[in-house]
Amino acid sequence: MLASYRTKATSGIGPSGSLHETARLLEHVNWRAGFASAPTSAAHSVPALRHLPIALARMGEGASPDMQEAVRAVIGYALWQTFYADSDWTRPFLADIACATLVGPAGIVRSDEVALGLFLLGPHTTYHEHAHGLDEVYHVASGRAEWRFDHELNRQAFGLGEIVHTERDQRHDIRTGTAPILCPYTWTNDPAAVTYHRIDRPWGVGKVVEPPLVG
Ligand SMILES: [Fe+2]
Repeated sequence: MLASYRTKATSGIGPSGSLHETARLLEHVNWRAGFASAPTSAAHSVPALRHLPIALARMGEGASPDMQEAVRAVIGYALWQTFYADSDWTRPFLADIACATLVGPAGIVRSDEVALGLFLLGPHTTYHEHAHGLDEVYHVASGRAEWRFDHELNRQAFGLGEIVHTERDQRHDIRTGTAPILCPYTWTNDPAAVTYHRIDRPWGVGKVVEPPLVG
């Protein structure tokens, strides 16, 4: 996965500065110590995992060999969660979202500087508009989805191998089509920052709400 990030960064695809910095941070985490003491079972049921077999199968149909190798190497350690607890805001997509934090402040491998995990979103699902005080990079390993940034009309599709960069406090949502999407993700610039959304539009003046998280 690090090799893939470096290749993308040096080829000018995606946010090269951010990817270089992310790769540098990941190279300094203590992988061996973290995985040696990794727990082996998730604490919560995660309905979205019913989408994981098809996502992994489709990854095998087109993702790069290094991406496939990286995902398969860590999938057995992944402690999947819904990330969010039930609320009015999360209910429309809660049965179709799953995250597994591998590296990070609450990860199997501890780091306060960078988080790395896996993200799964089922088909025909919209992960509603939100933002967070951190930089988020998704690397699409399976499927295809649309990200909407900042504005109703600014919607872009991303597929296999592509990098999606969401800047700190940039509002965004994710909408899938007929297939689930599986993405390694990284968070930098305060990976412990909270996720929030707003009610009572417009976005810039709406009340800020921090949806409850699992655990
Ligand atoms: Fe996000």
